[in-house]
Amino acid sequence: MVSWKELGLASQKAMLQKALKEGYAVPGYNFNNMEQLQAILTGCVKSQSPVILQVSKGAREYANGTLLRYMAEGGVKMANELADSLKLKHIPISLHLDHGEDFEICKACIDNGFSSVMIDKSHDPIEKNIEETKKVVEYARKFDVQVEGELGILAGKEDNVQADKTTYTRPEDVEKFAKGTGVDSLAIAIGTSHGAYKFKPGQKAELQLDILSEVRKRLPKLPIVLHGASSVLTQYVDMINKFGGKMENAIGVPEEQLRKAASMGVCKINIDSDGRLVVTAIIRKTFAEKPGEFDPRKYLGPARDELIKMIMDKNKTVLGSTNRA
Ligand code: G3H
Ligand code: 13P
Ligand code: ZN
Repeated sequence: MVSWKELGLASQKAMLQKALKEGYAVPGYNFNNMEQLQAILTGCVKSQSPVILQVSKGAREYANGTLLRYMAEGGVKMANELADSLKLKHIPISLHLDHGEDFEICKACIDNGFSSVMIDKSHDPIEKNIEETKKVVEYARKFDVQVEGELGILAGKEDNVQADKTTYTRPEDVEKFAKGTGVDSLAIAIGTSHGAYKFKPGQKAELQLDILSEVRKRLPKLPIVLHGASSVLTQYVDMINKFGGKMENAIGVPEEQLRKAASMGVCKINIDSDGRLVVTAIIRKTFAEKPGEFDPRKYLGPARDELIKMIMDKNKTVLGSTNRA
């Protein structure tokens, strides 16, 4: 058993409350390997942005949950050293379980030093969602760990997260859920979705910001979270297609819609797919241009550099989290 406080992590509560007060969103970036972790932390230190490092069930299976926890601990030290060397402030870093599917995985992460967990029972009826979420909140409280719950269902497919269509959050349910569970933040479904195919060609890529407003009216003090918020940046999709990939009609959430949401009480924005696209695009390009290259550092290194740039740009132009550390 280890507390997040011993790992040099920051409280997500303080991070999200500051974001709520000041009208920006803290990035929740997913990582599965060393290069992603290095890029997220380097980009956020250079941006002077707070950051939430997210680990999914798929990431735990891919990289090993224990290893990821130690990587995050090492990451905090690396980020602090980098900040010192650049004469910048240390940034707040939290370690978060993304889409925890049951109490057991949430408990395992809380016991292993995570500073926040998501319990995702959004596919269950609301009564069951409340009951299961409350159980996690009661356990997490003992260790000062924050809990994110979800109401509404996002469409899209990733390893362990999938649904065919979106079921928007019903604003009339949110007070009952917040009171019944005691969650610290609430993920809602307003038209974002997981993965790289969020809208169909010809469809208006628009979020239901009226639902967000309605939720905010009912819960003005509760930080709201947006999942599935990658913009599916066209320059990387084009690069993937140019260098032998096949990603037709990949469409994400327009950046201005996310900026608007961040100014309306969305305090945490989850981004995974955009990072995956950057890495894939640069690796494909390097393989095409340097077919004799066989040292992974020669293609993972440039991918990591581009990821740093993407993260810094996203923090500044979409989330508004630059210089909020
Ligand atoms: O929302 C899901 C995250 O992007 C994690 O995806 O389950 O494929 O690791 P994953
Ligand atoms: P994207 O697939 O849009 O990057 O969403 C990631 C996410 O919601 C992680 O929980
Ligand atoms: Zn998600």
